[in-house]
Amino acid sequence: MQRTFSIIKPDAVRKGQTAAVLAMMEAAGFRIVAIKKLSISKPQAAGFYAVHAQRPFFDSLTTFMSSGPAFVLVLEKENAIADLRKLMGATNPANAEEGTIRKKFAGSIEENTVHGSDAEETAAFEIGYFFAGYELV
Ligand code: CMP
Repeated sequence: MQRTFSIIKPDAVRKGQTAAVLAMMEAAGFRIVAIKKLSISKPQAAGFYAVHAQRPFFDSLTTFMSSGPAFVLVLEKENAIADLRKLMGATNPANAEEGTIRKKFAGSIEENTVHGSDAEETAAFEIGYFFAGYELV
């Protein structure tokens, strides 16, 4: 079993797509280990996306991620990290495959509905960034 971290981003929450995204995750075999709704502050978003600090889209990304409520979650299944990324589809929805979350819901490369960890070390950092151990059940 492997755990991964995900965010249902402010665009999806605003558009009322949270339940549909969660349903796709559960239908794909993910178990929800933890979930909470929160407003991510701009400094919190900057810390979370620190690896992108030098990218030209960093300021816009952190503004977007702090633009409204989001859901942060921890998901579990075998091969969770790779399987969630497959279910999400390409970062740019224009390149996302049919049947993926981003193909179905994402509006742009930035407002792309969901985040998912890209590696084990990233997942550990990202889970710890938003959850305490006792919240993972
Ligand atoms: P995510 O998977 O959360 O990881 C970093 C985020 O930065 C990404 O999803 C997008 O929301 C955003 N992003 C990545 N590339 C670009 C880009 N070229 N322009 C704007 N935003 C981007």
